[in-house]
Amino acid sequence: MCGIVGYIGPKEAVSILVEGLEKLEYRGYDSAGVAITGNGSIEILKKEGKLRALKDELNGQTYSANVGIGHTRWATHGRPSDENAHPHTDCTGKIAVVHNGIIENYLSLREWLQSQGHVFNSQTDTEVLPHLIEEFYEGDLLEAVLKASSKLEGSFALAVVSSHEPNKLVAVRQDSPLVVGLGEGEYFLASDIPALLRHTRFTYILNDGEIAVLEPDRVRVMDRQRNKINKKVLEVKWEAEQAEKGGYDHFMLKEIHEQPKALRDTFSGRIAADNSRVILDEVKITPEQIRGLKKVFITACGTAYHAGFVGKYVIERLVRLPVEVDIASEFRYRQPIIEPGTLVIIISQSGETADTLAALREAKRQGAHVIAVTNVVGSSVSREADDVIYTWAGPEIAVASTKAYTTQLASMYLIALHLATVRGTIAPGELGGILSEMKQLDAKAQLLVDNSVEIRDFAEEICSSRSLFYIGRGLDYAVAMEGSLKLKEISYIHAEAYAAGELKHGTLALIEDAVPVVALCTQKDLYDKTASNIQEVNARGASVLALAMEGFKEVEKVSDKTIYIPETHPLLAPILTVIPLQLLAYHTAVARGCDVDKPRNLAKSVTVE
Ligand code: F6R
Repeated sequence: MCGIVGYIGPKEAVSILVEGLEKLEYRGYDSAGVAITGNGSIEILKKEGKLRALKDELNGQTYSANVGIGHTRWATHGRPSDENAHPHTDCTGKIAVVHNGIIENYLSLREWLQSQGHVFNSQTDTEVLPHLIEEFYEGDLLEAVLKASSKLEGSFALAVVSSHEPNKLVAVRQDSPLVVGLGEGEYFLASDIPALLRHTRFTYILNDGEIAVLEPDRVRVMDRQRNKINKKVLEVKWEAEQAEKGGYDHFMLKEIHEQPKALRDTFSGRIAADNSRVILDEVKITPEQIRGLKKVFITACGTAYHAGFVGKYVIERLVRLPVEVDIASEFRYRQPIIEPGTLVIIISQSGETADTLAALREAKRQGAHVIAVTNVVGSSVSREADDVIYTWAGPEIAVASTKAYTTQLASMYLIALHLATVRGTIAPGELGGILSEMKQLDAKAQLLVDNSVEIRDFAEEICSSRSLFYIGRGLDYAVAMEGSLKLKEISYIHAEAYAAGELKHGTLALIEDAVPVVALCTQKDLYDKTASNIQEVNARGASVLALAMEGFKEVEKVSDKTIYIPETHPLLAPILTVIPLQLLAYHTAVARGCDVDKPRNLAKSVTVE
């Protein structure tokens, strides 16, 4: 979604704001803008298009203001245009606001404000904010922001500056992330941590309903009644370089290459040295609760949902508990039946996805124990769940999720093995075998990221195709879903994942000469069946790339090209199989000249419903 930045301190604000926006551009990129407060006035600079357009506009100009806010937009209300770009101002041009989220009651507020004589210049929901603040301003900016916020329905994070009180920046968080950066004699505001890392590692993570007032010499955090809140300083452990491209052409490629390390970090300290057990000391769920479990729900969106699908197979196989996987936006509205003994696992890289957060709240409301798997420390999901298992993937900047997915899978294995151990559904020998294989996954992942020549060749072949099919059975089907999503979202080629056995019930009709099919074949017990499905598409002229577990030599006979996945325990194969699929999507998108890190219409963190 949109990105917000703010600065107050001794330095020149515009360049700091623009630099912060560069780090947040993955959140939204159809327009960008900044507002700076100076002597009695506010200057607004905003432009439709990527941040580059705004930077070109600013080029060669000098600014001296030390206070400002900035925004990179992902359009919801009103098409991308200069007028709809943030910041928005009131009628007098003395109040400027940037906003992330959706003001659900903006139409009625707008009508009311127009009846009071306010004139609007954009089609956005955001523009009601500066006018509301103007309406309530009686010499106290904070009070006016509080009054305006109390009229809003929906989710929002906002930052406000005003030439009435030029040395002040007011920020409000409600269901949309905001972080305050604590520098030395200067303060920052951002909707995500990478925008702060150049300047400080010390932060206040704002909670819903909290307001921060930034002034040159202090930051105050309070609730809506102006009661002071003593915030804990959170020190961010990431290196700033982790959020940079580090020599790679794209963040996505860098993040694919970071997977071996991300896996090591996620497993680190969580597998006993003698492979006798999983160590999940961070979870509070008791052995008694685990033994009393009757059912598991996994709920998430997009790639995280696909990780949940793998989780379902693994938990059902190892723990022998029924597992339902739900898309979070469906779960929350379908009145899920949550009875005593239900565990809900929420998966979210950002920990801020609106639907996922709502699913978490619904699960808690109905009394389930909730374990969150998330990558962002201090995120909403991490704060609201009963238990949190962090994926230590480091910052994921590319919109297309890669290392978050593999570390989500890693976390699902840890959870499944922990539950299985406590419930006694796994023999020590099998547990030891899987844990020992898990420790080798990083090295095997390294082999796959280092050897992408064949994948690149196949990408060249398919880059002008109109449509692709991904097929597999069992866990391979779960990974096929993720592979097809990766291709769609960054290369814009239509792709579908099918359970291989389902093809002949309809979709086989679409297979004709030269249609590319990516066939996944890593599960020994399903090997013969999958091979015969590959044969079916092959016989109809498809061009088949098979990804097979090492040793499955027969697959070569029914496919045009075979890439082997290093041998591992079949349950762990998804972590490895997905890597060539990520690389295939990446190289195809590059070959098509697509903007890999910022695919059209998509944003990294979907904080609106
Ligand atoms: C696709 C992708 C998305 C996210 C989804 C959930 O590559 O990244 O499908 O997985 O928007 O996001 P999180 O995990 O942040 O809740």
